[in-house]
Order: sequence, then structure tokens, then C-alpha cells
Amino acid sequence: LGRWDTCTPPLRTEIVEAMLTRPDRIAALFDAIEAGRIAPSYVSATRKGLLLRHDNPTIRSRAAALFQSEAVSPRNEVITRYRSALELPTDRGRGQRVFERECKSCHRLGDQGSEVGPDLAASLHHAPDQILMNILDPNREVSPNYLEYVVALEDGRVLTGVIANETATNITLRRAEGVQDVVLRKDIADMRSSGKSLMPEGLENKITGQEMADLLAFLVSGSR
Ligand code: HEC
Repeated sequence: LGRWDTCTPPLRTEIVEAMLTRPDRIAALFDAIEAGRIAPSYVSATRKGLLLRHDNPTIRSRAAALFQSEAVSPRNEVITRYRSALELPTDRGRGQRVFERECKSCHRLGDQGSEVGPDLAASLHHAPDQILMNILDPNREVSPNYLEYVVALEDGRVLTGVIANETATNITLRRAEGVQDVVLRKDIADMRSSGKSLMPEGLENKITGQEMADLLAFLVSGSR
């Protein structure tokens, strides 16, 4: 955490993930968020849910204080609000920068990005309104392959990700940036689906109306 300011976004995501994997590191991360050094938005929706329901009451109440204000509002309201933004004049170049900032860690488009979620080339044929819905309401229909799982290990670590591969003896979890964790089945204490897509809900907290309009202009024009 000491080097936070000098780290790139992918590295920051990994730092936060590493802090949340072990219960004894959570307090230090909360201290940094409370001090305003780290934005709460670095904590994924699934992780926030786990923290808000944590066994430890101190962690639960600190999580409530830190994250409750960011509660996700009803999807239909958000979609209606953003639909009007789509009338704005757009700029593909700005849209590309939004893609690089918020999407590339999980989606491939052209020759950039990671293949954690579907390649977005296929969505170029969809209407902007459909893509807007996919972005703002990812849990409307979740395909089983992209369900996020929470895996608690016997040694106390808690990992999250989609199941990228499984064999008789182990399971591979994949998350943002294409990072994978291979765990032995015999080391798993508990494993359950979060019931949600790995695609994060609440992206409107990170993307303004203008940025969304630019992003859609970029997506429907392809990576040409
Ligand atoms: C943490 C990883 C992650 C991030 C970040 C992310 N996505 Fe996704 N996205 C996914 C996954 C996984 C799916 C598949 C969801 C499903 O089918 O349940 C998906 C699905 C989609 C779909 C539907 C595609 C299809 O073929 O059905 C679109 C469109 C999309 N994402 C766009 C975006 C955009 C634009 C951004 C950035 C603003 C973004 N996503 C950020 C993981 C992510």
C-alpha cells in the first residue's frame, strides 16, 4: 500500500485483491480508504458484498460505513438516465480512453484487452441501446460461464473469479486482467457462486453520461 501512488491501475487492482484475500489485512486496507488514499471503487462489488456480510462484526460495521453510500440504485432508473446522454455529440478517441480505463481489464476488442469476459467485437452488431443495457445491468441475464464464484480456502484466504477450468483435483479461477489462481480441491473449505456476473454492476459510478456516449461511439465503430 505504501507504493500505491506510483502503481498502474492493473497493479492497484491486484494490490486490493491481495489485501482482501486475507482477513488479517482487511483493516489496513480500510484504514487507507478511510484516509482517502485509496478510492472505495477499487473494491469490486462482490468483495463489497462479502465485507458487508463478514463474520467479524468490526469488519462488517466498517464496511457499512465505507461502502453503504455507494449502494447501487435500481437499474431501470440508471438506464433511463444514461439513455438521454446518448444524444450528446461524441468523440471516439475519448471513448477509447474510457474503454482502456474501465473495460480492457476484462474484454478484448481488436488487438487490446484481456479475455476474461466475451470479446466485444461481437457486440458491434448490437444497437447502442442494447449495449448500454449490457453495461449497466449485467445481471439481467447471466450466462453460467461468467458467474462469479467465491472460494474460501482452509488456510483462511478467500478468492473470487469465474471458473476457467476444472479437473478432478483442482479448480482454476480467473479474474480481471486475466489473472488466474489454481487451487487444489482438497484445500477448499467452501465454494459458492455469488449469483452475479463477473461483469461489475454500478459502472455508472465510474462513467459519466458524456463518457458513456463516447464509449458507445467507440464500441460500435470497432477498433478501426
Ligand atoms: C471485471 C471484469 C469486467 C469488466 C471490468 C467489464 N466487463 Fe463487460 N463483461 C464481463 C463478463 C464476465 C461478461 C459476461 C457476462 C455474462 O454473460 O453474464 C461481460 C459482458 C459484457 C457485455 C455483453 C457481451 C455479450 O456478448 O453478451 C458487454 C457489451 C460488456 N460486457 C461491455 C463492457 C464494457 C463496455 C465495459 C467497460 C465499461 C465492461 N464490460 C467492463 C466482465 C467485465
